[in-house]
Amino acid sequence: MKRALITGITGQDGSYLAEFLLQQGYEVTGMVRRASTENFERIEHLRERIRLVQGDLLDPFSLIRVLEQARPDEIYNLAAMSFVPTSWSQPTLTGEFTALGVTRLLDAMRIVCPQARFYQASSSEMYGKVREVPQSETTPFYPRSPYAVAKVYGHYITVNYRESYGLFAVSGILFNHESPRRGLEFVTRKISNGVARIRLGLASELRLGNLDACRDWGFAGDYVRAMWLMLQQPAPDDYVVATGESHSVREFCEIAFDHVGLDWRRHVISDPRFIRPAEVDHLIGNAAKARARLGWAPSVDFAGLVRMMVDADLERLRGAAGRP
Ligand code: NAP
Ligand code: GDD
Repeated sequence: MKRALITGITGQDGSYLAEFLLQQGYEVTGMVRRASTENFERIEHLRERIRLVQGDLLDPFSLIRVLEQARPDEIYNLAAMSFVPTSWSQPTLTGEFTALGVTRLLDAMRIVCPQARFYQASSSEMYGKVREVPQSETTPFYPRSPYAVAKVYGHYITVNYRESYGLFAVSGILFNHESPRRGLEFVTRKISNGVARIRLGLASELRLGNLDACRDWGFAGDYVRAMWLMLQQPAPDDYVVATGESHSVREFCEIAFDHVGLDWRRHVISDPRFIRPAEVDHLIGNAAKARARLGWAPSVDFAGLVRMMVDADLERLRGAAGRP
């Protein structure tokens, strides 16, 4: 039985990856931070089948202990401060978690299990003010937020440790991927939750920032499969994972409101509070390499993703209110 360690297992991707690896027959260990109240909502249904150990990307000793306990064949480093706006208000902490945290984990791996395979959760945010459309593995980076700058560091330290020490370390450059488990502050879930609340009479308006921003949005369940595929290859390499389609926040609103019979123009309000100091306008990925070498392809299209998220929020809110 193969053993996997997931950092960030309590997050959106961590929960889908844990499910996927259990289905593949893995023994799964998740690293979690100590908190005064547990934050295991996304992995509650898996609790009996996974092992959780405490550790923190800020604490090198804890990472060594986690690896000694998990003895992993594969390490998936998904933990990070992942919300872009917070990276402007907490830039140093973002660098500690999202940049230096990668080095700490790679060093712990070198000490405890250098033969393991390592996945780093890199991001399309690294392309920022894009130099090329669509973006591929060879497109230069131009990060536009402290988060993206930290991710560029995480990407290159992964490449550097692969080249310096011969580690099997790969960087997955993933474009935005969403699901009903997405955090409520990200725009897709903010919209799906807002639409469900308006539909059920719990709210009347939805305040958003830049409606013209475009993203290449896919389904998180598809993207964790790509992470795993990268670690099954004969040699380590980096891959872009994306749908190859770009849509605006406005289009997301249109489909989401339309799905429940509402006109988005009557409810969406533009609020300058949600405008960012610097924006990433046109992200669209070229995943040709992942398609050719990993045999990876997305299974959920844009409209299907929007409807899945709205339906899930409607069901959750109806359940919470005890109504059909
Ligand atoms: P998420 O839902 O925000 O989850 C982040 C996870 O990191 C949580 O489990 C969080 O734990 C953990 N974490 C944060 N700081 C930590 C620390 N100091 N020590 C240990 N754990 C820590 O993020 P996600 O959407 O699943 O994304 C997973 C990874 O992929 C992230 O690195 C993100 O930057 C990257 N990524 C995401 C996307 C996307 O579209 N989703 C695209 C490209 C790259 P708590 O529950 O304790 O807070
Ligand atoms: N969050 C948010 N809230 N975003 C808004 C809003 C709003 O009210 N209104 C418009 N937007 C726009 C943002 O300006 C941005 O251009 C776009 O919606 C997407 O924002 P988010 O959903 O917050 O995601 P992100 O693209 O900044 O970052 C996510 O994807 C990255 C991959 O490209 C995160 O998951 C990152 O961790 C990930 O690396």
